[in-house]
Amino acid sequence: MAGDVYERVMDLARRRGFVWPTSEAYGAVAGFIDYGPLGAMMKRRIEDTWRNFFVIREGFYEIECPTIGQEAIYVASGHVKGFTDKMFQCPHCGEFFRADHVVENGGHCEHAAALDEESLARELAEIPCPVCNETIGEVTVFGFSLMFRTSIGPGSQRTGYLRPETAQGIFTDFARLLRFYRDKLPFGVTQIGKSYRNEISPRQGMIRLREFTQAEAEIFVHPDRKEHPDFDRYADYRMPLLGYPAQLAGTGATEMSMAEAVRSGTVANEYVAYYLALTHEFLMRVGISPDRLRFRQHLPDERAHYAEDCWDAECLSDRFGWVETVGIADRTDYDLRAHASHSGEPFTVFIQYPEPIRRTETRVVPRMGALGPRFRGSAKAIAEAIAATDPASIPGDGGFVVTVGGNAIEIGPELYDVREVEVEVQGEEVMPHVIEPSYGIDRILYSILEHSFGEEQLEDGSRTVLHLPPAIAPIQVAVFPLMSRDGMDGLALEIVRELKSSGLMAEYDDSGAIGRRYRRQDEIGTPFAVTVDYDSLEDGTVTLRDRDTMRQVRLPRSRLALTCIELCTGRLRFNDLE
Ligand code: ATP
Ligand code: GLY
Repeated sequence: MAGDVYERVMDLARRRGFVWPTSEAYGAVAGFIDYGPLGAMMKRRIEDTWRNFFVIREGFYEIECPTIGQEAIYVASGHVKGFTDKMFQCPHCGEFFRADHVVENGGHCEHAAALDEESLARELAEIPCPVCNETIGEVTVFGFSLMFRTSIGPGSQRTGYLRPETAQGIFTDFARLLRFYRDKLPFGVTQIGKSYRNEISPRQGMIRLREFTQAEAEIFVHPDRKEHPDFDRYADYRMPLLGYPAQLAGTGATEMSMAEAVRSGTVANEYVAYYLALTHEFLMRVGISPDRLRFRQHLPDERAHYAEDCWDAECLSDRFGWVETVGIADRTDYDLRAHASHSGEPFTVFIQYPEPIRRTETRVVPRMGALGPRFRGSAKAIAEAIAATDPASIPGDGGFVVTVGGNAIEIGPELYDVREVEVEVQGEEVMPHVIEPSYGIDRILYSILEHSFGEEQLEDGSRTVLHLPPAIAPIQVAVFPLMSRDGMDGLALEIVRELKSSGLMAEYDDSGAIGRRYRRQDEIGTPFAVTVDYDSLEDGTVTLRDRDTMRQVRLPRSRLALTCIELCTGRLRFNDLE
């Protein structure tokens, strides 16, 4: 068949109803796609597997926030000012491009994202334009905001932005979530939903979209306690890690256990290591091939300004090379601190000490003997305001102002003392750090399609097959009557009903030769097919065929639904039946 693997996978995806360009009747718009019936089903199954890992197993409840956020959120988070990509316009054909991608694809630099505008322009001068092929020459590189801006309500009075990540909704809900988790660290919160980025030149199918689905977990931890309480689960989990020193030295990834990774300082802490391993396990579970998966650490100048350590799970694509599908970062307290300073709200957790501690502190102590006669009924409130004043804020010559009941009151040096006092302290206010695994569902789905895609020569021809894990396949069981007569069709339809009422997605097909029906299901990744034949009418047995080995077993119809459920959930393997 003509075309590279990408073209063949996308051809299948379009033809069979996984994914197609959006609003084709009006001419598709780059960066937007529609999931067809099978794609939407498969996507939902990937998201549900993610929920099994993060919501059920980790216990991180899911929330759902609006996709449009008021301007203040994204001013505080830094997105309004700094969420830009560097772009240029080809002086010959007028096309717009992302400068770092053109430099990287031109083979001039592996990590051009870290270069500034001038360096990118210098590199671009020698590179041919990806569209018109003219050498680019002198060009200006400038920042382009990826934020989609809109207005909220009539009269364009309030600016809003389509969220570029789901995470900010979780950060801005911090106080309520903290209360939900009974004011204790650590706790985690998840969100699956659409994010929007006005990507400069989305020419990479499902890899670079302007509207895409993220599944994100934000895990709030004590800044000085980054030991994961369940680290034992993954301490011995081994996987290849491509740390940044290895990238700088040009050596390959090293396989190591997560305990070794933390001990050797390859990974910053147990939390990051835990989610690297969990992500590896998740990606393999949904059908990413382990030999086309790597975990690459960001180089220090590639890392987001807020991140202490950051790793990307990258999947190898035949056309696009290594593609980031998941980012795992220690975001420190960057976001909570930013929201605290912009909103004036605390964004902290009170951590009680096991025992109160006594210590001396410099405090401002009101002189009640002087305050009482001067302020009478208001003296107590004014004394409290004086006691709450930070001694460091008092100017050298003394005197300051407090606000009580909306009134500014001058406090002269005769009304207070600054002295060392012994205090009992119950605990402290702490601003948590955030560990964030951020998954791009569309990129994962595309990578699964590519990694599971096969074209196989058989004795009687060839077949195209998607080797999808049964838990991810859109249709789990196909049911065929050998012929649609003599009661075989009726029995097959009855079996479809039975399978469906057991929660399995089953599909009936009686059209064409049985071999063609198998091929149709192989191509969409249906893992199991049931055939009803004359023996089924006689003895109540049916054949069950395994997509990958194409082997068949006969089993009583009464055991079929349970067997299929066990096969789809992985509790049973097909060769256990043989
Ligand atoms: P890239 O460098 O490829 O633009 P990114 O570093 O900006 O990606 P993040 O900001 O870390 O990506 O986003 C987290 C995840 O969201 C990514 O790992 C990816 O799977 C997904 N993602 C980001 N941008 C897009 C996009 N334009 N289309 C589809 N998925 C995306
Ligand atoms: N939440 C991580 C990102 O989207 O960049």
